[in-house]
Amino acid sequence: MSEKPAIAEWEKEGFGHIWLPYTQMKNCLMPLPVVSASNCSIKLEDGRELIDGIASWWSACHGYSHPHITEKVIRQIKKLPHIMLGGLAHEQAYILAKRLTEIVTPGLERVFFSDSGSVAIEVAMKMATQFWFNKENHKKNKFICFRNGYHGDTMGPMSLTDPDQSMHKAFNNYMPKQYVVDIPNDEYSFAEFSSLVEGIKKTVAGIVIEPLVQGAGGMKFHSADILAEIYRICKKNDIIFIADEIATGFGRTGSMFACEEAGISPDIMCLGKALTGGTCGLAATLATKEIFEAFLSDNPDTALMHGPTFMGNPIACAAANASLDLFEKEPRLEQINRIEEQLLEELASCRKFSNVIDVRIKGAIGVVQLNKPSNEYILELRKKFIEKNVWLRPFGDIIYIMPAFTISKKELSKLTKSVYEVLS
Ligand SMILES: Cc1ncc(COP(=O)(O)O)c(C=O)c1O
Repeated sequence: MSEKPAIAEWEKEGFGHIWLPYTQMKNCLMPLPVVSASNCSIKLEDGRELIDGIASWWSACHGYSHPHITEKVIRQIKKLPHIMLGGLAHEQAYILAKRLTEIVTPGLERVFFSDSGSVAIEVAMKMATQFWFNKENHKKNKFICFRNGYHGDTMGPMSLTDPDQSMHKAFNNYMPKQYVVDIPNDEYSFAEFSSLVEGIKKTVAGIVIEPLVQGAGGMKFHSADILAEIYRICKKNDIIFIADEIATGFGRTGSMFACEEAGISPDIMCLGKALTGGTCGLAATLATKEIFEAFLSDNPDTALMHGPTFMGNPIACAAANASLDLFEKEPRLEQINRIEEQLLEELASCRKFSNVIDVRIKGAIGVVQLNKPSNEYILELRKKFIEKNVWLRPFGDIIYIMPAFTISKKELSKLTKSVYEVLS
């Protein structure tokens, strides 16, 4: 290991001025200073290299600094780094909009760009509410959402999480109230869910769900059959179905989009994270023709009143187009299958530990759930992973692996072995 200090000069100077995400700043550990990252390796200031098991919150699906994306981004920066989408057009956003509609589930024809997943959800919620408003139905303005769900940190998405359990409970008095329910999973709970939906449908604009995998709310899985049945009940009751594929989209669960596995076509789909291959911020809210057409009239007030300054940023769209090239040219879905098989095989042994209550795998997602660990224990695990030169960041009661799809067999084994060893 090199003799350089673990903390960089720039970090020491800037630390008194920066405010970090989800962090108690009073006693937090100094974050590890990174100088560069390539494929699945993060290079630290002190010379160490960490094998990355979480792909920067599940976004860097082709690994870091993929040369194809880098080349396209550099070319775009030189040509046109940014231009507003209101009244002006640029090639990358228009090409991307068309390409996205060609690969998502059938029926999604229109793409509204924004700059983060949270905003994509805000836009979806506004689309659903205004859809009914434009049809002179002013009562349908609530949402159904699910316990253990997570849809982002701005007002609309925050209101879609369990108000009592979520990390956003400080804002309960400030947020709109929604219908938060458990994901039904058997005949009895489906009957309950169905009669609830029937009873509240006149006040409900839409339902928002992370299909197949609830991510940041605890990495809980549900089956494609459950998803399909929820969809069926909502459609029967005239409720707009919003699929939050921000984490699941672009292959993470084993198919390009999780909704495909259930054979359903949502009315609105939100994408983000891996959209640019994790290169920079970009999100998209896709809608069907039926949703879109409810905004068309001779009255300017029926238009969708939303427009982030950096929506459809050309650099981000160039990165996203390059990322789609890679999905076309490289065998990503095969790689995801291989990762799934390896995770199944190599994480299974963690089941024997007395503090492990579940091990579950879906696509390129491996989860080891612990029995009520303390915060201190989780922080201790985080430190131990770093000592092993892997970047894994357990939270709540779970240790999870969600690597780039380009990870090698050896690197993935190093991650699974580290999980086994720190639990031993
Ligand atoms: C399913 C889901 N929806 C929405 C978001 C919010 O995305 P962003 O962090 O880009 O605002 C996330 C982020 O983790 C997510 O996992």
